Amino acid sequence: MIIAIDGPAGAGKGTLALRLAAHYGLPYLDTGLLYRAVGRLMAERGLDLDDPVAAGAVAEGLDPSHIAEAELRGREAGELASRVAVHPEVRAALIAFQRDFARRPPGAVLDGRDIGTAICPDAEVKLFVTASPEVRAHRRTDELNAKGRDVDYARILEEIRERDERDAGRMSAPLRQARDAVRIDTSALDIDGVFNAARAVIDANRP
Ligand code: CDP
Repeated sequence: MIIAIDGPAGAGKGTLALRLAAHYGLPYLDTGLLYRAVGRLMAERGLDLDDPVAAGAVAEGLDPSHIAEAELRGREAGELASRVAVHPEVRAALIAFQRDFARRPPGAVLDGRDIGTAICPDAEVKLFVTASPEVRAHRRTDELNAKGRDVDYARILEEIRERDERDAGRMSAPLRQARDAVRIDTSALDIDGVFNAARAVIDANRP
């Protein structure tokens, strides 16, 4: 069973994906890490993030099994990721790894922006997890404040809006809900609420 989870920044995809993976005994791939790793490598090498050929070459050379997750979690890496993710060359270079991961038995949980639309269009379960920009910005602000980072809500909201615009507005695999995806609006749900809603969809659709 392949569970494809897409949605905008800060909607709670990662938390949900981890819980579903544990519950159904499936491996989990956070596909955002691949784009984050490409963005970070480009920045480290002093390459131009807007250069599609250079970005494509970095993505081609990426070894996804050696991604240092902890270093890629931050906001800067997220920004770098969304800049390089616009290039079709980058997206093309990362497709095979994601599809191989998904197709290996017993299946997998993948989260990202284009899993249900481009990477795994035949996934048994497709979820589109979203929340209002204000709710997502509040969650991000609280999360960062809890880590001792002094961040401003208005600034985070602006970043979220910019990222939504870039992810949904790009030509190559833009963020959008697949026609056969079930939408879960998490604005008024806590983590258990989201998990239970997703489980109900999956148990009704699983093969
Ligand atoms: O959770 P958050 O949005 O902060 O981060 P992420 O899921 O790691 O994604 C970071 C950026 O990578 C997104 O804003 C997208 O531009 C890009 N991305 C993508 O284009 N396609 C994916 N399948 C996953 C991420």
